[in-house]
Amino acid sequence: MPEQEAIVFDPYEVYFKMRQDQPVGREGDGAWEVARYDDVRDVLRDAETYSSKVIDSSRENTRAPSMLFSDAPVHNRLRKLVGRAFSPKKISTQRNLIAERCEELMKEMARETRTDLITSLAAPLPVTVIAHMLGVTGGDMLEFKRWSDLIFGNIAEILFGEPSDEVMQAGVDMDAYFIGRIEELRKQPERNLLGDLVEEETEDGKLTDEELLSFCRLLLIAGNETTTGLILASVRVFHELPETFQQLKGDPALIPAFIEETLRFYSPFSQTIRRATRDVKLAGVEISAGDLVSPLIASANRDEKVFDRGGEFIIDRKPNPHLAFGSGVHNCLGATLARLEGEIAVSAMTQQLAGISLVEHDPVSLAQFGGPDKLMVNIQPLH
Ligand code: HEM
Repeated sequence: MPEQEAIVFDPYEVYFKMRQDQPVGREGDGAWEVARYDDVRDVLRDAETYSSKVIDSSRENTRAPSMLFSDAPVHNRLRKLVGRAFSPKKISTQRNLIAERCEELMKEMARETRTDLITSLAAPLPVTVIAHMLGVTGGDMLEFKRWSDLIFGNIAEILFGEPSDEVMQAGVDMDAYFIGRIEELRKQPERNLLGDLVEEETEDGKLTDEELLSFCRLLLIAGNETTTGLILASVRVFHELPETFQQLKGDPALIPAFIEETLRFYSPFSQTIRRATRDVKLAGVEISAGDLVSPLIASANRDEKVFDRGGEFIIDRKPNPHLAFGSGVHNCLGATLARLEGEIAVSAMTQQLAGISLVEHDPVSLAQFGGPDKLMVNIQPLH
């Protein structure tokens, strides 16, 4: 990396220091931040001690996505009901849709020499896929995208603070839209994810309207910005290590390993949150029942005790037991879909362009929710 770029504030340096000096620590009475791989994995896998019910009950009417923020037995029931719709076999049926949408977006992108990567590829690709899975079509799609941006961009206020009237209204409008769709689907079934979920039934019964609604919100939150983040991270790697672009061009079979390493190196879901259910000791630190605990996934994924030369991007790293999709019962439901979208986007970029780089070095920011709003890139077309 050129010298002037290296002086930008780098959260990975902070993580490195935390892993060395203070692997579990907090500021004031904030959440305990957990920096080492083994501790992060242990927290994620011990759902009894570290509960996902982090939102206090007085805020239960918020537009909270219930599955991600619930424990057994509620979580088991929801996961079982929606799990089938996300099986690798079901997801593989999305391949053509993703490839076609990516093709359209790339055609537009290849005409430019400079563009905003977020609006031209990284955001519309996952939004189209989720909208399609939920049966959102035509003009509704633009509204869907607007709600998605407003809700995701303000998720921290929605869950823990006071969202603005505009954000509240977006939530109300989106709920009304989906309630309407659910009613239609009950009368006239359709073959898409939401259509399947309306009919899905196990011994625990069917999903209620509120559960279906909550799942639509969850997909919006968990599936959009994270996948956008993966595409941005890939281009960040191309910018910092241009030889990787050429390697993938020459040998597309490396793309799946490249995606895994990108997920490890610039983890899009950089940290998550739990609440301790009992007094517990972690890495020698006493955590009290009720305290919030934040496993730093992005830090765990650079832990040099687990990843040889963890601070280096190794395109064909093997093994690569990263925690970018979490671990334990809440592990990412959309991982197969996210990998597929990432692979298709990277394949399209490396095959249809001569190169792509950031216009300005953009410091990595690891906000818990959301990434940058804009990321300008230079495009070198093939001809
Ligand atoms: C690169 C993209 C993605 C990354 C890095 C990612 C990461 C994660 C992580 C770390 C978790 C666990 C959070 C926790 O334990 O607190 C999670 C959960 C989840 N993700 Fe993803 N995700 C991605 C894409 C997607 C997509 C595309 C979808 C669906 C369309 C999706 C749906 C979900 C759902 C529903 C959960 C909750 C699972 C549960 O609570 O059982 N994710 N994701």
